[in-house]
Amino acid sequence: MSQVFQAFIVDKRNQQFEAGIQELSLNDLPEGEVLIRVQYSGINYKDSLASIPDGNIVKAYPFVPGIDLAGVVVSSTEPAFREGDEVIATSYEIGVSHFGGYSEYARIPAKWVVPLPTGLTLKEAMTIGTAGFTAALSVRRLEENGLKPDKGKVLVTGATGGVGSFAVSILAKLGYQVEASTGKNTQQRYLLDLGASAVISREEVYDGKIRALGKQKWAAAIDPVGGEFLASVLSQVQYGGSVAVSGLTGGPKVPTTVFPFILRGVNLLGIDSVYCPMETRVNIWNRLASDYKPANLEALIQQEITLEQLPTILPTLLKGEAVGRTIVRI
Ligand SMILES: NC(=O)c1ccc[n+]([C@@H]2O[C@H](COP(=O)([O-])OP(=O)(O)OC[C@H]3O[C@@H](n4cnc5c(N)ncnc54)[C@H](OP(=O)(O)O)[C@@H]3O)[C@@H](O)[C@H]2O)c1
Repeated sequence: MSQVFQAFIVDKRNQQFEAGIQELSLNDLPEGEVLIRVQYSGINYKDSLASIPDGNIVKAYPFVPGIDLAGVVVSSTEPAFREGDEVIATSYEIGVSHFGGYSEYARIPAKWVVPLPTGLTLKEAMTIGTAGFTAALSVRRLEENGLKPDKGKVLVTGATGGVGSFAVSILAKLGYQVEASTGKNTQQRYLLDLGASAVISREEVYDGKIRALGKQKWAAAIDPVGGEFLASVLSQVQYGGSVAVSGLTGGPKVPTTVFPFILRGVNLLGIDSVYCPMETRVNIWNRLASDYKPANLEALIQQEITLEQLPTILPTLLKGEAVGRTIVRI
């Protein structure tokens, strides 16, 4: 094992922000029981925010971003993990205040580490990453709240993004009729290939006017967009339906009224992947390796890049230009 290795570092000193590849040694890594040779990471919206000066994600500099990683255990002081085990580590403080996945080696607390389930490779796990995990958690919460394929159409907003693409694929695999809403009119084929039964424009979901109650169009919705979009979705969900909200690419303020809740019994379900309990986390990863596993995972990879390409690629997510997932081969 080499003592010196490469990592993508962001640093901010005297209002000067820098991002690039640097050499680290194992002594630079934070505390944790499990030392992992990282093989794949991925890019999530949060990682893009971590790569800009005012993204408000990184707690202290210099720092290694990357909220997702998958690799092979080099050593572990916790008996649950042994040298050679394939593992996944996402969420918690990883890539926020604990050095993350954009590094050849990572040292991670054992309580944040998930054994790679049978049925997934390390590359597939990082194709899924936090985005796919969040979509899967959203599907599970909707089903726990009574959603079944015969209840009607399910809307997915931000459908070409990481969370959205996986939501479309998982729902389609489970037999749901999925309406995919996107701002990219060039990506209809991509969404239909993932299993959407119809592709609609953002304007068909939110035309700029939020009504207290609108036509009841969808049995449920998976919404990583939030903002005014979410308010508009809530007003168009069927009686007793649910909306799983996970993100804020459309903004943090949701100007809804109480009417969808008190006149139609609509449920608003909050989705948090970061502190999702370990028992649920392991269950979701196992389902992503079996019944939730998208039929064609390769189709969800927009590109596979190296550490050196991160500075160019990371900002594209912030412009809403991403389609599917970018994975990072370490
Ligand atoms: N709660 C959690 O645990 C959790 C976990 C993962 C991610 N997230 C959050 O979920 C959100 C999506 O993450 P992601 O990884 O899927 O990001 P992403 O890959 O960048 O996708 C976001 C998608 O949202 C749509 N969009 C962007 N700007 C928009 C706007 N102004 N109005 C309407 N739609 C817009 C775009 O899709 P179209 O062009 O197809 O419309 C874009 O591709 C982020 O806010 C992220 O922080 C939360």
